Amino acid sequence: MVRYLTAPVLAAVVVLVALTCSADAALNVEEQLQLLQAKVNQLEAQVQQHDILVEKFARMERVLAEIQNEQKTSSSTSSSVRGASIPRTCKEAQSGDPTLSSGMYWIDPDGQGIGDSPIYVYCDMTKGSTSILHDSELPTDVGHCMDPGCYSRSINYNASIKQIAALSQLSSECHQSIKYDCNFAPIELNDVAFGWWNDKDGNSKYFWSGGNTDNHTCQCGIDKNCVETYVKCNCDAAAPVKLSDEGVITDKNVLPITRLNFGRTQLDTSSGVHTLGRFECTGQVAISGMPRSCEDLWRIGHTMSGLYSVMGAEMVESVYCDFTKLPSDAGFQTFIGFEDIKSSPTYFYVQKTSSFNQTQTPVPFEIEKVNIGGAMNLQTGKFTAPRSGTYFFSLSGIAYIPVSSTRLGLWMGLYVNGIQIGRSHVTDSSSTGDYETYSQQSTLNLQAGDLVWIEIVQHQESTGVYLYDDPWHYTHFNGWILQEHISNTLNTL
Ligand SMILES: *[C@@H]1O[C@H](CO)[C@@H](O)[C@H](O)[C@H]1NC(C)=O
Ligand SMILES: *[C@@H]1O[C@H](CO)[C@@H](O)[C@H](O)[C@H]1NC(C)=O
Ligand SMILES: *[C@@H]1O[C@H](CO)[C@@H](O)[C@H](O)[C@H]1NC(C)=O
Repeated sequence: MVRYLTAPVLAAVVVLVALTCSADAALNVEEQLQLLQAKVNQLEAQVQQHDILVEKFARMERVLAEIQNEQKTSSSTSSSVRGASIPRTCKEAQSGDPTLSSGMYWIDPDGQGIGDSPIYVYCDMTKGSTSILHDSELPTDVGHCMDPGCYSRSINYNASIKQIAALSQLSSECHQSIKYDCNFAPIELNDVAFGWWNDKDGNSKYFWSGGNTDNHTCQCGIDKNCVETYVKCNCDAAAPVKLSDEGVITDKNVLPITRLNFGRTQLDTSSGVHTLGRFECTGQVAISGMPRSCEDLWRIGHTMSGLYSVMGAEMVESVYCDFTKLPSDAGFQTFIGFEDIKSSPTYFYVQKTSSFNQTQTPVPFEIEKVNIGGAMNLQTGKFTAPRSGTYFFSLSGIAYIPVSSTRLGLWMGLYVNGIQIGRSHVTDSSSTGDYETYSQQSTLNLQAGDLVWIEIVQHQESTGVYLYDDPWHYTHFNGWILQEHISNTLNTL
């Protein structure tokens, strides 16, 4: 509004006022003029202010657009492929910067920006290992008590269960060391287990070294060098002397240890002290070649849930990956379907324009309605499969059968690499001479380079039976690829 109240308009108003006023009102007019002038000045000032505001607003809009753009690009880089900031394992941190020295680092095994918050871990850069700290690392005396598991201590890790599981699944190997210094304090005595540990799922375990087994043993039991031959752990000798069992548990599917239980230390002369190592993981499962699953994609560093293409056994598959879950979780990968990828599209439809009566010769064609991929050679009549896959062929046409009191016929054969794999035929004994339709369909698994053609197998040539055609085109030979075995293609390319 203000903008349109321009100087010429105001002048016109003033003139109008001047003309319509009487002479004795002159002073009044002058006053009014001054008043109007003041108003005009005021309005002009407002217009200026308005212009300034409009410009400021435009500038702010530009800045806002820039910020939004920046956010878009930064979020897409950090979420599609692992961002620069927080690595998932110490190994990954080291790969990013080989000069890093051992110490405490922030990592985010379940992926940056999703899942649980990052965890603070010890990185041993000489081993490339990641260790999760817990509240029971120092040697801990189990005190005195009698019953199995009367001493029980839960182990609290400085990381969520999900982060520990993610680290475990990312790593090629995880382990945890455990040592029990004992004095007349058996872990197992007379087939009664006084000590055990609980795995990540809370299940009781009785092995104190090595991989998962349901049997009670310590390292000396595995090495067969315990202090007594009849025990599986030194401590089980239950002798009033200082003994020790030390081992490393290596089954990452049951680690980490969530609880330690001991007993049979009720005597004053008995004692037990446990020392539990950190949950330590090394290595990273390497993905070679194309990703074959959501898990592969996850290992590569994808964190944005969505539909992905992965290489299946024969075809590319479409899968939904839910990266808010871990590979071990149900629903992490959902199969959607096969992707209909054709590295060499192949579709043909050919016809004849004239009759043909040669046997043991691939039937040639004259008209090419469609020949995408050029796999069909009209002159030779031979189709060459460009790729390994499943193909469909269909043939139909007519045979001329002349007047005859005996039965006459035409036999058509479908050939793969020179071997007849099926035939169709028509027969008739006609008093007028007749045209009969033959047809044949087939679905074939072919290897790249396989040859397919049709031949007249037999037609009693001397009697005047032949494959009939003319410019109306009665012979139809179609073929196309239904499904390419893309994995085979990629292996041979
Ligand atoms: C435990 O983790 C938290 C973050 O989750 C961290 O702030 C704290 O320093 C860690 N404690 C130890 C002892 O590393
Ligand atoms: C566990 O113990 C059972 C019976 O004592 C034995 O048959 C089996 O071989 C043992 N398994 C291992 C891994 O030592
Ligand atoms: C069939 O073949 C004979 C020679 O064997 C030829 O004379 C004749 O024209 C042929 N007929 C047709 C319809 O092609």
